[in-house]
Amino acid sequence: MTTSPPLLPLQLSDVVFEAGGKRLIKDLNCRFEAGPPSVIIGPNGAGKSLFLKLCHGMLAPMQGQVTWNDPDAVSARLNQAMVFQRPVMLRRSVSANIHYPLKLRKVGKAERVRRTEEALALAGLGRLRDHPARVLSFGEQQKLAVARAWALKPQVLFLDEPTASLDPAATHAVEELIRAIHAQGAKIIMTTHDLSQAKRIADEILFLFRGRLLERAPAAQFFEQPQNDLAQAFVKGELLWWKLGKANRKRRD
Ligand SMILES: Nc1ncnc2c1ncn2[C@@H]1O[C@H](COP(=O)(O)OP(=O)(O)O)[C@@H](O)[C@H]1O
Ligand SMILES: [Mg+2]
Repeated sequence: MTTSPPLLPLQLSDVVFEAGGKRLIKDLNCRFEAGPPSVIIGPNGAGKSLFLKLCHGMLAPMQGQVTWNDPDAVSARLNQAMVFQRPVMLRRSVSANIHYPLKLRKVGKAERVRRTEEALALAGLGRLRDHPARVLSFGEQQKLAVARAWALKPQVLFLDEPTASLDPAATHAVEELIRAIHAQGAKIIMTTHDLSQAKRIADEILFLFRGRLLERAPAAQFFEQPQNDLAQAFVKGELLWWKLGKANRKRRD
């Protein structure tokens, strides 16, 4: 049996994405290595979701390349997973939501059962296992979506705003789950517009604004002293910081 090379690093080279006649992701260059979580921050509409979807392969760039270390496209697809901003629950029980995607991937029965049990336990959803997934609270659904993705044993897990619209307790539970998944060896690449969450989770920050990657830095350094003027305003929480954006846009475009 041959073993696949590791999936990471992931390299994005001069990536451009356009839709509706607009350039929404502009000349993006970056590389993700294995290791602690990378967090992409930026205001609404910055292009965070598009960026993750391009990395995940759900969208194809109009220009540039997204390249995994593993050259085999099938294994690159199967070894990474993404949880979308609004995950869709299957019209099935909580445990079947984890079990069924494994079946689709032709994971053997004993292994499916084992992984489903593990994922339920990790997410603390064991007691809800037989409930229809669609009756769960938002917070529980979000935990289930993350656990379901984790059961696929991805080397890289993309999470798009995994706690948007959750209350503090549910947010805490999802963050614990993210930490547990990282501790088990998966690379976490996630987006958030919540700065305090980025501080809690990130090892490094990527600051995205209007489709451009304006700054990338170790988290402590970024929050202490962002180099980019827009990042500074964003970190300070200046409400009118987007005006600065307009001035910058004129300069840059
Ligand atoms: N399919 C699409 N067609 C046209 N515009 C899009 C499409 N998808 C996203 N956009 C626009 O691209 C920008 C970035 O979107 P998105 O990645 O969802 O931002 P974020 O996740 O940072 O809030 C937004 O202005 C959004 O309206
Ligand atoms: Mg988004």
